[in-house]
Amino acid sequence: MRKPIIAGNWKMYKTVAESVDLVNRLKESLKEVFASKIDVVVAPVYTSLYAVSKVLSGHWIALSAQDVFWEMEGAYTGEVSPIMLKDCGCSYTIIGHSERRQYFGETDETVNRKLRAALQAGLYPIVCVGETLNEREQGETFQVVDRQVRRCLAEVSPADMQKVIIAYEPVWAIGTGKTATPEQANEVHAFIRDLVFRLYGTQVADQLRIQYGGSVKPENTKGLMEQPDIDGALVGGASLKADSFTAIVMGALAAMGKG
Ligand code: PGA
Repeated sequence: MRKPIIAGNWKMYKTVAESVDLVNRLKESLKEVFASKIDVVVAPVYTSLYAVSKVLSGHWIALSAQDVFWEMEGAYTGEVSPIMLKDCGCSYTIIGHSERRQYFGETDETVNRKLRAALQAGLYPIVCVGETLNEREQGETFQVVDRQVRRCLAEVSPADMQKVIIAYEPVWAIGTGKTATPEQANEVHAFIRDLVFRLYGTQVADQLRIQYGGSVKPENTKGLMEQPDIDGALVGGASLKADSFTAIVMGALAAMGKG
């Protein structure tokens, strides 16, 4: 059975002090949870990573960045390398979030370069894919997701693929309050798993964890997580408060024992 993974994407919110406060609250509210049952990851802004890593030192909650660059060092003003993320305590990084694609010129090609660099440095990449509202309305969802997955995973070996997490985030559901129904989401998750099966075979496809993202909240977590191909959530807004993020982790645990 795949271990569920719940990640909180804090986006461009929270000062260092606020980040430290939130993670301290999470340590407290999740203290009854068995780390062996679920992976929980938080992704603060760059400026908070180091301070949060100190608070999480030795704790099972893992640290993620929200983006990464594809070179290990060099004259790349403003960028942060995968080695530097490892150095300040990250074990994961989100790559290719739709906001980066929309506002910062991220493409499947840059996502692929970042993904391979992250793997090389020993980070677990959370790679985001998903269609826009217009693409869904045009009936292009599967075509778009197929293209994104293939291009983002180009030249990734089967061994490395075992460290990759894919987040399916329909762009129309992010920050809008509109969640895909569990069935709508699962349909795309199953499609992604089948594509990974065709590219990498049964073992990699069976163990691949695919998160859903887009207006995940305590009320809809269990229904989503009960779907056979949904293995976790990438949570934006509802990850900014300890009580709602904790309720989402609990919802995921309650859905376990599925299929
Ligand atoms: P949301 O964001 O939960 O606020 O919709 C999800 C995301 O952007 O990862």
